[in-house]
Amino acid sequence: MSRSDENTKRRTVTLHLVSSLDGFIAKKDNSVSWLDSGSVYEAGVSISEEEAAIFVKAIDCYVLGSRTYEHALELGWPYGDTPVVVATSRKWPPAGQTIEFYTGDLKTLVDVNLAPRYRNIWLVGGAMLCQSFLELGLVDEIKLTIAPVLLGEGLRLFGGSPTEARWNLKDVVAYKNGFVELSYSAATQ
Ligand SMILES: NC(=O)c1ccc[n+]([C@@H]2O[C@H](COP(=O)([O-])OP(=O)(O)OC[C@H]3O[C@@H](n4cnc5c(N)ncnc54)[C@H](OP(=O)(O)O)[C@@H]3O)[C@@H](O)[C@H]2O)c1
Repeated sequence: MSRSDENTKRRTVTLHLVSSLDGFIAKKDNSVSWLDSGSVYEAGVSISEEEAAIFVKAIDCYVLGSRTYEHALELGWPYGDTPVVVATSRKWPPAGQTIEFYTGDLKTLVDVNLAPRYRNIWLVGGAMLCQSFLELGLVDEIKLTIAPVLLGEGLRLFGGSPTEARWNLKDVVAYKNGFVELSYSAATQ
């Protein structure tokens, strides 16, 4: 096995999105207060800030589409000092040291650009980029958090992907605020 094959095998791409109950990841006006408005589920678990920090520290790199990047800049940068790769066909002014822009084939991005450098790669949206990753078979795990809210309209989770694919449920965590996290791994064909 060549070194690049070893690297390709070692990496895990985890797609993480938060969806409303009716399958939207963003409201039409892009407002995000629905992400904060939970409910109370007594039997749920909660995680401390310390636990959350340890979890986030284990993420080696975030990958996002350019629209999610623009929205993150508007809302306040949520990725700290962790490296971020933004998929885009546009030219951007230089950003912070941890931010790279990538134009080109997404399989090359993962196998050639990211896999030799990073192990725990998080694809964090939006819908368009996640759909492309799924269609290309580049996602190893899906973490889908369901928020306890119906939005009625907005940006569809996974859009209209024509690809049928089975995923194995690995874990379900219900939180005290009524959010539920579903973890899946790709089924081997
Ligand atoms: N609820 C959640 O968990 C969650 C998570 C993330 C984002 N969001 C929301 O989702 C919305 C953005 O999602 P979106 O689907 O509209 O956009 P997106 O996926 O964030 O970004 C789309 C852009 O990414 C680039 N791109 C997409 N596919 C590509 C490919 N195959 N190769 C190269 N570049 C590619 C293109 O950039 P260029 O046009 O620059 O070429 C494209 O216009 C925002 O409202 C954001 O807040 C929600």
